[in-house]
Amino acid sequence: ALRGRAAGVLTIRFSHVVAEDTPKGLAALRFQALVQQRASGRIQVLVYPAARLYGDHDEMQALQLGAVDMLAPSLSKFGRVGFPEFELFDLPYLFPDVTRVRHITQGALGQRMLARLSRHRLVGLGFMDNGFKHMSANRPLLEPADFVGLRMRVQASRVIAAQMRALGARPVTLAFSETRRALAAGVVDGTENPISNFWTQGMHEVQTDLSLTQHAYLGYAVVANQRFWQGMSQGDRELVAAALGEALAFGNQIADNQNDKALVALRQDGSTRIHAPSEDQMTRMRHAVESVHAGLAQRIDPQWLRDARTAVANDR
Ligand code: LMR
Repeated sequence: ALRGRAAGVLTIRFSHVVAEDTPKGLAALRFQALVQQRASGRIQVLVYPAARLYGDHDEMQALQLGAVDMLAPSLSKFGRVGFPEFELFDLPYLFPDVTRVRHITQGALGQRMLARLSRHRLVGLGFMDNGFKHMSANRPLLEPADFVGLRMRVQASRVIAAQMRALGARPVTLAFSETRRALAAGVVDGTENPISNFWTQGMHEVQTDLSLTQHAYLGYAVVANQRFWQGMSQGDRELVAAALGEALAFGNQIADNQNDKALVALRQDGSTRIHAPSEDQMTRMRHAVESVHAGLAQRIDPQWLRDARTAVANDR
């Protein structure tokens, strides 16, 4: 935190792995603009998008070492670094819609999850949605029989790996920034993404078919290095936290629209065929992945899952 202090300017380095024209990319830029406006140049936010500074393999370590100050990894990436309960967000068909996810992320359970991050000297600052994921490959993926023998790129989440196995595919963990190239080279056959990520990575150029399976959720947690966070003055911390809260609310507000816009662009582009599963196909998908829920319940305190189900079922 000494850097920049001499000149009286505090610099916040914020790294993420997606394109700028995505819900997360735009929320990061909104955060940057709000902080700079309100701190009148006293605090500067540097945003490093598209894994330009750090990617999936090294960003968490970079954060813990203080080489970067803030990240917004997907919730799926917290299991690998010691927080397997975050993988409950990956469970297929747990959430009927994003509103239900927010029962967790904007409520007491979400706060409890963020608080756990302090065990690894991280400060959990808030959640943000992307949306629901869809399956892609060079063939339609509408029911389990379609997945047999395919190598599917996954994030480093055991729940997502188990989901792919339950469908008959072989999961291959790859960094997000390597995925398009791996698809192009045939190292993997397919993957899953919200449409904004699929489109902004140019995956439509290397996947002939996108199936609107909407089988699971993708969202993020913003985390800061604890020493950096505590090193700020109380006033700065409040300013930064408020700006971030607004930026995340903005991200949540545009996420649906970004995904809808990407679908329109994809249809106009016409290079990828777009399919929708039938009710029967959806039932078969759902049935095939049921065991994944029980698998997670064995790896984490099952109370997390009970609380998550209660929050999801709660009508507010
Ligand atoms: C992925 O690796 O597929 C996602 O976590 C990328 C992202 O940050 O949206």
